[in-house]
Amino acid sequence: MADVREAAKLLEKAQRVVVFTGAGISAESGVPTFRDALTGLWERFDAQSLATPQAFQDDPDLVWGWYEWRRHRVSTVHPNPGHLAVAAMKNAVVITQNVDDLHERAGSADTVHLHGSLFMPRCSQCGEAAALPSTTGEPDEGRRVWPPSCVRCAGLIRPGVVWFGEALPEAALEAAARAASDCDVLLTVGTSGMVYPAAEIPRLAARSGAAVIQVNPQPTPLDSVALVNLRGSAAQVLPDLAARAWPDQAAEGPAAEPS
Ligand code: APR
Repeated sequence: MADVREAAKLLEKAQRVVVFTGAGISAESGVPTFRDALTGLWERFDAQSLATPQAFQDDPDLVWGWYEWRRHRVSTVHPNPGHLAVAAMKNAVVITQNVDDLHERAGSADTVHLHGSLFMPRCSQCGEAAALPSTTGEPDEGRRVWPPSCVRCAGLIRPGVVWFGEALPEAALEAAARAASDCDVLLTVGTSGMVYPAAEIPRLAARSGAAVIQVNPQPTPLDSVALVNLRGSAAQVLPDLAARAWPDQAAEGPAAEPS
């Protein structure tokens, strides 16, 4: 309780706020984490056989089929009160490691995606952005789907996510580093803080003098970086925190998800 009050005070006073999120914020919407997405018929595969450039080169229809299945799963769920509370923090810069689009659907239009997005496919050869294929119902779990071809060079279209062994998108990483070094408060939500270089973002903010507030039901390596640790779920803690920090805004009510 005292912690939540302290965190709200820090937010209330802050001129520049960064919200840094991971899989935990989408968990309550029902988005399976990377590891959970390898269950069911996908269980016999491991991440290395589905989430590397080599896997796509060797078996493009297997990899594309897995991402199409994940994209469909994400499009059937909704932002939760955690995403909506973040969207209500009007001037906050939102940086996510998630490849879903729940921040955008909650109203955080300019979310920085450090690990790419399930909704931004591109050509594996020339890099040209590609249109999303229209989905006609859920692709069967475990089903292979042949990827579309690039309209410019006929190369295979690949998911717009960062795979193991790949660099993070330069522009996103730069924007995240800039925002983290310039902010007064960084709120880190639902991330284990163990996957680098993304995990460097809250640490960079702390080194630059920002107060770091962490929201996570479990301890993480970021506990020692955070000035305030709020142990709880994103969907419970964030609306309460936002209502305390900006009571006028909370009175207006949360934004509804656009239909
Ligand atoms: N609210 C807040 N936090 C939660 C909740 C919740 N409801 N449920 C779980 N968590 C926390 C867990 O305690 C854990 O610390 O979310 C964190 C999720 O950790 P990871 O699964 O490691 O997710 P993340 O930190 O986003 O992983 C980073 O690793 O799997 C790769 O590329 C993938 O972007 C991902 C990256």
